[in-house]
Amino acid sequence: MKRRKFLATGSVLGASSILARGATSQGLAATTRVTQGVPTVIATWDFGVKANAKAMAVLKSGSSAVEAVQQGVMIVESDPKITSVGYGGLPNASGVVELDASIMDGNDLECGAVAALSGFENPVSVARKVMEETPHVLIVGSGAREFALSKGFQERDLLTDAAREAWHKWREGERKKDQTEDHDTIGMVALDSRGQMAAACTTSGLAWKIPGRVGDSPLVGHGLYCDSKVGGAAATGIGEEVIKVCGSYQVVEFMRQGVHPQMAVRKVLQRVLDRQPTKPERWVGFIALRKDGEVGFASTNTGFQVAVANRDGNRAIVAESLR
Ligand code: GLY
Repeated sequence: MKRRKFLATGSVLGASSILARGATSQGLAATTRVTQGVPTVIATWDFGVKANAKAMAVLKSGSSAVEAVQQGVMIVESDPKITSVGYGGLPNASGVVELDASIMDGNDLECGAVAALSGFENPVSVARKVMEETPHVLIVGSGAREFALSKGFQERDLLTDAAREAWHKWREGERKKDQTEDHDTIGMVALDSRGQMAAACTTSGLAWKIPGRVGDSPLVGHGLYCDSKVGGAAATGIGEEVIKVCGSYQVVEFMRQGVHPQMAVRKVLQRVLDRQPTKPERWVGFIALRKDGEVGFASTNTGFQVAVANRDGNRAIVAESLR
C-alpha cells in the first residue's frame, strides 16, 4: 500500500479480509482470538498474504522458522511491482536502490543484517549468511556488497523502469517530495509446530533518502526482535520513529512481562505518539506474535493492514489505529 493510500483508505479491504476489533474497550480478546493456531505466521501489509503462503508451505514441509521467514519475505523482495522492498524499490536521492534487511533466530538469538546494500535482489538471504557464517551481526554498504559477492550472490540492477521514472519525476519536482511514501516494509514473524520462532524484516527504506541513510529494518531490536521463549515483533513505518523507542525489542519485552501482544503493541505505539503528537506523517505500525500463537498488531495511523496465517487460513486484516 502506498503512503498516500495509507492515510486515505481507512479500513476498506477486499472480500477475503476481516476486521480487527482491538480498538474497542472490551475487544482485545476478539481481536486476537481469531488468529490463534500453531504454526502461525504474521506479516505486515496485505502483500504479506503471499509471503505468508510461502512461509507456511516451508513450515509444513518441516523446515525451520528461519527458513520460513527468509523464503516468505523473498517473495516480496523479488516482486518488481512492490516499490518499497527489494527489486523495484524506489531509489535514494542519487537514483540508487539501497536495501536494508535483517533476520533473527528466536531459539538462540542469533541474528544477521545488511544495510545500504545495492545490487542484490534478496538482501534477507545475505543477512542470513551474516548470521550463520560470520561472527558479526551487521555489515553495511560496500562491505556488504563484497560479502555478498564472496558468498556467491549474483548482482543485478534493482532499478526498474517504473522506479527510474518516478525518481526522475521527483527530481524534476513533478512528484511530491515526500520521503514517507512508498516504503512499506515487510516484517514477518513465524512460529513452527515445535515452538521455534524467527523473524525477518526487509525494505528499500524511505524513497529519495540521503544516500547511506539506514532505517530501523536492519537494526535488531528496532525493525525486528525475536525470542522463542517469549515471542517476536516487527515494525513498519518511519524507521527513525521506531528507532527512538527501540520498538520491536520493547514489544517483546512487554510480552515477556506478561502483557498481551495487542496491548504490548499499543503501549509502544503510544510512546511513539507521545513523542510527536502533532506529526501524523511520522507513522509507525507493529506486528507481534507470542510463543503460543497469540498475535497483536496496530498502527499510529489508519490504513495499516497485516496478514495472519494459521490453521484458520491466511488473510489480510485491518489493524486498529491509535490516532
Ligand atoms: N521502516 C523502514 C524504514 O524506515 O526504512
